[in-house]
Amino acid sequence: MQHDLNLKPFNTFGIAAKALYFSTFTDTQQLPGLLSAYPNLPLLILGGGSNVLFTEDFQGMVLRNEIKGIEKVAEDEAFVYVKSGAGEIWHEFVLYCIAQHWAGLENLSLIPGSVGASPMQNIGAYGVEIKDVFHELSAYHIATGEIHQFNNQQCQFGYRESIFKRALKNQYIIIDVTFKLNKQANLKTSYGAIQQELEKSNINKPSIQDISNAVIAIRQSKLPDPKVLGNAGSFFKNPVVSLELFETIKAKYPEVSFYPVSETEVKLAAGWLIEKAGLKGLKVGPCGVHEKQALVLVNYGGSTGQQILDLSTQIIEQIQQLFGLTLEREVNIIPTHESIL
Ligand code: FAD
Ligand code: EPU
Repeated sequence: MQHDLNLKPFNTFGIAAKALYFSTFTDTQQLPGLLSAYPNLPLLILGGGSNVLFTEDFQGMVLRNEIKGIEKVAEDEAFVYVKSGAGEIWHEFVLYCIAQHWAGLENLSLIPGSVGASPMQNIGAYGVEIKDVFHELSAYHIATGEIHQFNNQQCQFGYRESIFKRALKNQYIIIDVTFKLNKQANLKTSYGAIQQELEKSNINKPSIQDISNAVIAIRQSKLPDPKVLGNAGSFFKNPVVSLELFETIKAKYPEVSFYPVSETEVKLAAGWLIEKAGLKGLKVGPCGVHEKQALVLVNYGGSTGQQILDLSTQIIEQIQQLFGLTLEREVNIIPTHESIL
C-alpha cells in the first residue's frame, strides 16, 4: 500500500491530487485483505482514470483495478461470448476482438479506459453503446465479499447510465465483463461522419477493421489526446429536453444540432450549445474549453480539479441563462459533491 501518492499519472486530466493510500490489485482474492485495511476511510475504485476529476486530495484508499485476461467462454452458430478481466485496456480489447473477426465493438474503438468501467456509464460512440453487445458481468459486493452476476437488464443501462451509478453506487467492484459478439458483422455505418470517412478512402464494402479505422480517424481529428492535453472526453451529457423546449430553441436558432429520442423528447448537442454561447476555445487560467470540441474541457498544464469544476459551473450557468436548460456533468467528480450546481 502506498501513502500520499500523486495521482497525476493515474487520471487523464493530469490533476496532481494525492491519494492518502493507494494500491493496485490483479486478483479478486486480494480484495478482502485490501478492503479491511482502512474500512472507515472513503474508497475509490479506479480504472484508467479517464472519466474522473479530482477536485482535492483523496482522503481515503484508491484501489486500481488491474485484473487481466481475455477468454472465449462460449459460442453458438451466430455468437461468441467473450469474457474480459476488468483491468484490460478497453481499446486493446476492442482490437483483439476485431483481429479474431468478432464483430460489435468496432464503433467503440479508441475510447480510453478499462473494460471494467465500460458498463458504469454504458459507454457509447458512433451509434453503438455497450448495452448492444453486453452479456453479463461479475462484481464483488463490498459489504459481503460475495460475487454477484448482473445480466443486461439488471444493469439498467441508459444514456451514460447504469445501476452502478445510481441505486448501487459505490457498492460493487466490477471484476469481469462478458460480451456477446457477432460472427457475422452487422455494420453500423449510419453515423454521417463514418460514411464520409469511408468514402474518403474509397471503401464500398467495409470490414469491421475499416469501421474501426474510420472511427479512430474521426476521433483523432477532434478529440484531444490525453497524453498531449489533459481531458476526460465529453465533460457534460447531451441534454434530453421536452419537444416544447426544443421548439422554442429551434424557433430562435433553426440550425440547432440535435438527435431525435422519442415522440416527446429530443437530445440536443451540448457541444453546439456551448459553442453558440461563445464559450468554445475559452481559456480560464490553466484550463479551458477545447478549441475543436466545445464539450471537452482541457487542462493546459497545472490546473487543479477545482479550477476545472469552477469552469464547468460557469458553463452550466451561461447555458441555463441562454437556453433555459441545465447541463449535467458526465465526468465523475471526486469526492462526490452533492451540493454543487
Ligand atoms: P475511471 O475514470 O477510472 O472510472 C470511472 C468511474 O467508474 C469512477 O466512478 C470509478 O470509481 C468507476 N469504476 C472504474 N472501474 C470500476 C470497476 N472495475 N468497478 C467499479 N467501479 C469502477 N466515454 C464514452 O462513453 N464515449 C466516448 O466516446 C468517450 N470518449 C472519450 C474520449 C477521451 C479523449 C476521454 C479522455 C474519455 C472519453 N470517454 C468516453 C470517457 C471514458 O473513456 C469512459 O467513461 C471510460 O469507460 C472510463 O474508463 P476508466 O477505466 O478510465 O474509468
Ligand atoms: N458540435 C458543435 N460544436 C462543438 C462540438 C459539437 O456544433 O464544439 C456539434 C457537431 O457539429 C455535431 C454535434 O454537435 O453536429 C455532435 O457532435 P459530435 O459528433 O462531436 O458528438 P457529441 O454529441 O459532442 C457524443 C458523445 C461522445 C461520442 C460522440 C460520437 C456524449 C456526452 N458525448 O459527443 O462521447 O464520442 O458523440 O458518438 O454523448 C464521451 O462520452 O466522453 C464522449 C466523447
